[in-house]
Amino acid sequence: MSRLNADLIIHGGQVIDGSGADSFFADLAVRKGRIAAVGALGDWSCDTSVNADGKCVAPGFIDAHTHDDRILLSNPDMLPKISQGVTTVVAGNCGVSLAPLIHRDPPPPLNLLGGEDWYRFPSARAYVEELEQSPPAVNSIMLVGHSTLRVATMDRLDRPATEAEILDMERLVDSAMEAGYAGFSTGLEYPPAIASSENEVIRLATRAAKAKGVYTTHMRNESDHVDMSIDETIRVAKGADIRTVISHHKTCGKNNWGRTQATLTQIQDAQQTVKLNFDVYPYIASSTSLLPQYLPHADRILVTWSDAYPELTGTELSTICKDWGVSAEQAVEMLSPAGAIYFQMDEADLQRVLKFPGAMIGSDGLPSDRFPHPRLWGTFPRVIGHYARDLGLFPLEEAVARMTGNTATTFGISDRGFIRKGMSADIVIFNPDTILDRATFENPIQPADGIESVYVNGELTYSDGSWTGNRPGQVLKTTA
Ligand code: ZN
Ligand code: CU
Repeated sequence: MSRLNADLIIHGGQVIDGSGADSFFADLAVRKGRIAAVGALGDWSCDTSVNADGKCVAPGFIDAHTHDDRILLSNPDMLPKISQGVTTVVAGNCGVSLAPLIHRDPPPPLNLLGGEDWYRFPSARAYVEELEQSPPAVNSIMLVGHSTLRVATMDRLDRPATEAEILDMERLVDSAMEAGYAGFSTGLEYPPAIASSENEVIRLATRAAKAKGVYTTHMRNESDHVDMSIDETIRVAKGADIRTVISHHKTCGKNNWGRTQATLTQIQDAQQTVKLNFDVYPYIASSTSLLPQYLPHADRILVTWSDAYPELTGTELSTICKDWGVSAEQAVEMLSPAGAIYFQMDEADLQRVLKFPGAMIGSDGLPSDRFPHPRLWGTFPRVIGHYARDLGLFPLEEAVARMTGNTATTFGISDRGFIRKGMSADIVIFNPDTILDRATFENPIQPADGIESVYVNGELTYSDGSWTGNRPGQVLKTTA
């Protein structure tokens, strides 16, 4: 009998399978883009053999929360992500998706995707077709954004949608789901959606649920009224009967520090009756558009971009106020449209949220920012290197589960997120002793240390610190 043959065998690594279970030493065979075997594979032959002695072999990381809609097309190497071991990104979060919308001058926060010329997709299908014709280095899971739909269908945004407008938006959700989108997102705190009604959100989420979709929400409030926002989210989850994800869970502002004890209990209680989860990024500063309503809760604000004053990128807002002799509100008006980093969370809250069983890691990175929040380049190696290895917040296996198995299960992607026979071969090999984020608030564009090689659908995308030129990324559909 002929020997068993594989395209690729990774030998002798410490396999972390994505479930949170204890790691084990094994070889791993890949054939035709799938994991063909895991175990002692000494009698197999292969075209390519990789020695993973002293290294960890894990499922490719899934970035549960991104704004990568544009960069997937404009920078298909996806270097900020592949350099962290990411093999799949969930895009279209916070109510903002590039499609379906044609617009020259979209209102904030739609402009956080960058470049006004990019809102040029008449349909979700047109976006998916372009992505499939010109694939990036990572897989993607697409969400259609509520704010994008409101801009596309309403003449003014300072009111709830009418019945006719809801019907229009329902049709757009239906066609996005038919085109292969995986769900619906909201950004209820942002100006384009803050006036929307709960009923409008439930109606649209219901359409996504009918197609096995997921609902993700940047809630109406993440500070003084975070508890009410979680209640609203639970009502939507029940009303639409949909798997729901709270985006970038946190409690902002010093007066709300410590409240994650209560919010996590609230979430845990709700999990008895609804499918509810959240994503979290491992930093105590947030980042989004520079808007006056965010001023009161932040201790320190850094400007990440400004159309009017590009030279002030990376400058403290307080310095700008002093130099100009103006109030923070006046400075915001003069800098706008602009983006910012807000230091407004507590480390103890962050660690409590990271530690919650079943949590998912999402970077919320903003790839268009000239001076991005370091989460864009550092999130995943930071959770493993800083929080799991150096601080001992949880075992390595738990860190990996939060960026692989938990996420695939929550989003209903049944053939990813685990190292198991038959799974798609999205794999990262990393050095457990050296893995660490290098991006900082002062120097944010820095690839992480310790990521050795990354495979997407069995093809090598990242090795020796650079992109290999391969573009095997697929648009993934929910199947579970
Ligand atoms: Zn958000
Ligand atoms: Cu976001």
